[in-house]
Amino acid sequence: MTENERSAGWAAYYDKLRDRPPRRTLLAALDRFGTTPAAALALDLGCGDGRDTVEMLRRGWRVIAVDAEPEALRQLQARTLPSGSDVTPVIARLEEVPVPLGVQLINSSFAMPLCEPEAFRDLWSRIREGLPSGGRFSGQWYGPRDSWVGRPGLTFLGHEEALGLLEGLELEMFEEEESDGVTPRGKPKHWHIFHIVARKP
Ligand SMILES: C[S@@+](CC[C@H](N)C(=O)[O-])C[C@H]1O[C@@H](n2cnc3c(N)ncnc32)[C@H](O)[C@@H]1O
Repeated sequence: MTENERSAGWAAYYDKLRDRPPRRTLLAALDRFGTTPAAALALDLGCGDGRDTVEMLRRGWRVIAVDAEPEALRQLQARTLPSGSDVTPVIARLEEVPVPLGVQLINSSFAMPLCEPEAFRDLWSRIREGLPSGGRFSGQWYGPRDSWVGRPGLTFLGHEEALGLLEGLELEMFEEEESDGVTPRGKPKHWHIFHIVARKP
């Protein structure tokens, strides 16, 4: 697939899912914080057109919104954002993006597994190290019975492997979903997903 084809594919994805509500992993993480912390700063990795970013902004978080696709950030900025929103759009690949100091919430909905295994593990190390005590991660990882297994450039983790990476964190959500459905682009797919919310003690 060429870069242009990939970008066109993501643009179609944003159009298809426009106005969907925030992911429940993100909502669970935000709810666990209770009142929005002072100077709350979040990182949204693979933010797309801002489905989750907007909810964080709505609740008074400052958000660094990262995506490799310029179109994602263009669409995010074209949204009607809550007044007083403080969002920093960053075009970057997850493989390279640093985790800035002071980030209390790192959200990555359906994006981390779109990295190769080595990059995934590096990114996860940066997330774990970058989170302060009391900070949270929310997002999805893919399991080995997902029908995308075998596609290059993606990461799939077994149940125990996923739990191993999360060891030492407090698991506030660890739900394994297997279901047959269709992708937002209309292709049949078996989904094997871990829905995760974890807090650094
Ligand atoms: C499945 S979409 C999810 C978007 C949004 N988080 C959501 O939950 O709807 C994945 C997003 O991650 C971005 N993405 C995929 N691989 C990436 C990478 N290696 N680095 C940065 N962004 C990436 C895509 O451009 C896309 O916007």
